[in-house]
Amino acid sequence: MTIGIIGSGAMGAGIAQVVAQAGHSVRLLDQNTAALERAVAGIQGSLQKLTEKGKITPEAAEAAAARVLPTTDINLFADCGLVLEAIVEDLGVKQQLFREVELVVSETCVLASNTSSLSIASIAAACQHPERFIGIHFFNPAPLMQLVEIIPAVQTRAGLAEEIRQLVQSWSKLPVLVKDTPGFIVNRVARPFYGEAIRLLEEGVADMATIDWALTELGGFRMGPFALMDFIGHDVNYRVTESVFTSFFFDPRYKPSFTQKRLFEAGYYGRKSGRGFYDYRPGATPPEPTRDEALGRQIVQRVLAMLINEAADALAFNVASRQDLELAMTKGVNYPKGLLAWADELGLPNVLTTLDDLYADYHEDRYRASPLLRRLVRAGHTFAQYEPTAR
Ligand code: NAI
Repeated sequence: MTIGIIGSGAMGAGIAQVVAQAGHSVRLLDQNTAALERAVAGIQGSLQKLTEKGKITPEAAEAAAARVLPTTDINLFADCGLVLEAIVEDLGVKQQLFREVELVVSETCVLASNTSSLSIASIAAACQHPERFIGIHFFNPAPLMQLVEIIPAVQTRAGLAEEIRQLVQSWSKLPVLVKDTPGFIVNRVARPFYGEAIRLLEEGVADMATIDWALTELGGFRMGPFALMDFIGHDVNYRVTESVFTSFFFDPRYKPSFTQKRLFEAGYYGRKSGRGFYDYRPGATPPEPTRDEALGRQIVQRVLAMLINEAADALAFNVASRQDLELAMTKGVNYPKGLLAWADELGLPNVLTTLDDLYADYHEDRYRASPLLRRLVRAGHTFAQYEPTAR
């Protein structure tokens, strides 16, 4: 099957590489020829690195690169079986794009978006045939990150999600099935990792180096939240936080922080701009954590309880299955354990007590415990024993 990718930026180029390596002919379109040239060079460089590391043969790399046809002409998409867009995150622009794509492709061609923050239903609504529309959400960098979220819209025909799941699996990726809800799985469930860490900093519970130390050394996370936000960039991370908050009809649970908004406004985006929470300019010395173990454990307990609560609510509202929630957080953001299994290990009554104590202190909706967590505790059950009634 020939696959059309539209938008040859960070995501489009990475996705083109993935599907070319899986053996598909690829048409890679961008309105900007410089972006197309960068993408082609980037794909070649990335394949070259894989060859040097002995992950693929030089012949395989050459064949994959030869399968990618860069173009600015949408008419070359006529024979595509799937068209996936990764253009600018703007509903109007994406809708207009699919109106044009539908004039070119056959009726059986599947249409997909890699959007992070728009609803799949809203993009599909612009199509003549919205039943062939679906979300296929990759993570950056697409060639390295295994997770792919598959998001059928209300309009998507029955059976398409399963077909796409199998297709994505054939690309050596790990697909998870998600309801068309804000942030899908990863960008929703991970919010407290950033938000609660910032809250601890704002309250003066600990400094950022200590919070990062606690979550990596004691919590087992690969990167601390402040180092990670600086790595992702506050332009990206703040915008995702704000978009999840507004898309959830301003549920206070997802309220962004002024601390991060100010960094964003100042242009202190993190590593890429030399300053974020930390200072990356030459000569700057990174702050030392206090390494107070009792304090560190409190920090981990609070952030983890908030993450578990978010995963519990996603499960309660059938956003995804238990297995897919666990897979998403371990493969999409490399958490050391699935949050629900982690909760079972900690003991659900302990997690609930942490949340209820926070709620008792603050009386903020942010700390309201998921009803599912409370129900499981009351029944003496674990997440492993939880079976949803309907999906
Ligand atoms: P980017 O800015 O690196 O690339 C976007 C490309 O699309 C640019 O080369 C631009 O010239 C092109 N473009 C814009 N409008 C176009 C149009 N009408 N027709 C043809 N080409 C057009 O953006 P990035 O980061 O690759 O993101 C693309 C999409 O993927 C967005 O929807 C974003 O939300 C989503 N996404 C981004 C992730 C990330 O970490 N960067 C992760 C997952 C999804």
